[in-house]
Amino acid sequence: MSEVDFQRKPVIAGNWKMFKTAVETRQFFKVFNTLVAQVDHCEIVIAAPFISLEVAVEETAGSPVQIAAQSVHWEAQGAFTGEVSGPMIRAAGCNYAVVGHSERRQYFGETDETVYKRTAAALRHRLTPIVCVGERLEEREDGKTENVLTRQFIEGLGSLTVEQFSRIIVAYEPIWAIGTGRTATPAIAAEAHEVLRTQAAKRFGEDIAAGLRILYGGSVKPDNVSDLMAESGVDGALVGGASLDPRSMALIVNHSGESF
Ligand code: PGA
Repeated sequence: MSEVDFQRKPVIAGNWKMFKTAVETRQFFKVFNTLVAQVDHCEIVIAAPFISLEVAVEETAGSPVQIAAQSVHWEAQGAFTGEVSGPMIRAAGCNYAVVGHSERRQYFGETDETVYKRTAAALRHRLTPIVCVGERLEEREDGKTENVLTRQFIEGLGSLTVEQFSRIIVAYEPIWAIGTGRTATPAIAAEAHEVLRTQAAKRFGEDIAAGLRILYGGSVKPDNVSDLMAESGVDGALVGGASLDPRSMALIVNHSGESF
């Protein structure tokens, strides 16, 4: 990150997906908390499974670590078996919610429309949404990356108000890089982030776009995070596999501060 970007505090977020029981969650934080206790160059967020959110919040009390849900329903309550609402997530002590992860889109029928509804609900309940967008491999190979990102941005986020939009975080996660060990190069990430920031400027104005934090996700590891974050448009990382181990996640958090 260059100096001019200092108003955008970086975010390093871990996405545990469907990993870790409550006991394993406690074990993780016993190690992780001590390794990141002094960190203040970035926000640190861990998205745990719903069933471990309260334990995660309890284990991180007094530490710089914040806890996120991995999704959020758009209604506050109701007959929606298997879903969890914003007020429930807030009541568990969370301040963030991941929305529209590609695995939700791929396996659970998430669409740009439901992404919009979940994002608006998160904001309504004072959760910061981390909204994921990203292209599939075929789309990139067909030269459609910009179109896909633009569509996901406009359909998923374009109807937010300026005030709402100013409170979100976007994560660019190319699907071909998730869990594959195939990280986007810093240049590829920077280019995609630029597409998203340009859309943000068009819809919500230059100032709001300049303040938008855009994270990169897809095979982020301790040894590639600082190169990715050296790009001025990359404001942090959303980390899957490497966030499961407290030492590797702490290295990512600590290395993320090296490039500015
Ligand atoms: P990965 O996952 O770091 O394991 O590639 C990233 C994500 O899905 O958020």
